[in-house]
Amino acid sequence: MSCISCPISLYSPASVARNSAISSRSKSKPFAIRCAVGEYIEAPKVASVTEPLLLNAVRGEKVERPPVWLMRQAGRYMKSYQLLCEKYPSFRERSENVDLVVEISLQPWKVFRPDGVILFSDILTPLPGMNIPFDIVKGKGPVIYSPIRTADDVAQVREFVPEESVPYVGEALTILREEVKSDAAVLGFVGAPFTLASYVVEGGSSKHFTKIKRLAFSQPQVLHSLLQKFTNSMAEYIKYQADNGAQAVQIFDSWATELSPVDFEEFSLPYLKQIVDSVKKTHPDLPLILYASGSGGLLERLPSTGVDVVSLDWTVDMAEGRRRLGSDIAVQGNVDPGVLFGSTEFITERINDTVRKAGSSKHILNLGHGIVVGTPEENVAHFFEVAKGIRY
Ligand code: CP3
Repeated sequence: MSCISCPISLYSPASVARNSAISSRSKSKPFAIRCAVGEYIEAPKVASVTEPLLLNAVRGEKVERPPVWLMRQAGRYMKSYQLLCEKYPSFRERSENVDLVVEISLQPWKVFRPDGVILFSDILTPLPGMNIPFDIVKGKGPVIYSPIRTADDVAQVREFVPEESVPYVGEALTILREEVKSDAAVLGFVGAPFTLASYVVEGGSSKHFTKIKRLAFSQPQVLHSLLQKFTNSMAEYIKYQADNGAQAVQIFDSWATELSPVDFEEFSLPYLKQIVDSVKKTHPDLPLILYASGSGGLLERLPSTGVDVVSLDWTVDMAEGRRRLGSDIAVQGNVDPGVLFGSTEFITERINDTVRKAGSSKHILNLGHGIVVGTPEENVAHFFEVAKGIRY
């Protein structure tokens, strides 16, 4: 056990005995234990054995090690995925056919046994159901055929009804739950409104985000009405995923950090908060994870969204990130995906460093962004092996 201000493991038998003695003596804080720098922190609750480790960790229950999963843990770095791509060259087909979605989602599960199994899909998958056709073109990435840039374009955008447009997502999540049982948590995900808007306004991936910024800074009301449609739609999509088997849902706001803080407060934060508020009303126990790459300048603002977990990229030191986020929220991340190109000793060192800095409560071990194409599969195997051998 450790606290945010002293990321030192206290789970030696002696320290547990010492801490129980402290806690029984502490009259004013009966359920508190004292950490190495003398601050009192809440003692962890006892974990449920029938729930996946990841859920217990997010809830701040006492766990023996941090749960581990990796963003983009299914995909092109895996030989089995590459072989499947030869047979099914269309990304849309791979991500919209129930059998393929289940098979791909389970590829890393079968080899590495992560503590989280993320649905194989894309943040853009809901777009056709909102009347926005797209494709993912090899070598180019996402392509939106008719970008949305005017009030008339926004008026054509339909709100999303997941059970009508993406029934395969619900079916796949249900099957995944049956497959992994409580040995891992099944994870769903959605794109955040600003990040989705950036794709549909820019027409695909972008370097300088000039088109969405032109819209934001010259006709903000048009962008706001688009963001509101994505907000309502993604709140419904999260609920749909939870109702069909997702046990935690990650919200990807990958491009929000292209905004300066004052613009983030106008074009991203209120919509994230609306999504969280709406989901918490009907699904109060569903953990929500927020990932925004490059969020170092925005960290203090992120807990106000109401999410349960913030996923850190690698530009923030884990100990500093913890301090800046406050002690209520769980953290995920933040190992540089480039570390997986290093030696096995280096990978081990970085895992231990991150885990030590995160402390022994409310941490999900992960990378600071997705696994990069070309990452040696054996290094990913090493990452999971080391991670699963950790004991607080
Ligand atoms: O993490 C997982 O294993 C789940 C699968 C997943 C994919 N996309 C599959 C995918 C997840 C969680 C995503 C999210 C996603 N998609 C994000 C947010 C995360 C991030 O990277 O910041 C974004 C921005 C997208 C949009 C997107 N989809 C891009 C930019 C690309 C091209 C990327 C590239 O490297 O070519 C995609 C395509 C895509 N989605 C791939 C995968 C595995 C690669 C293409 C392929 O496999 O054929």
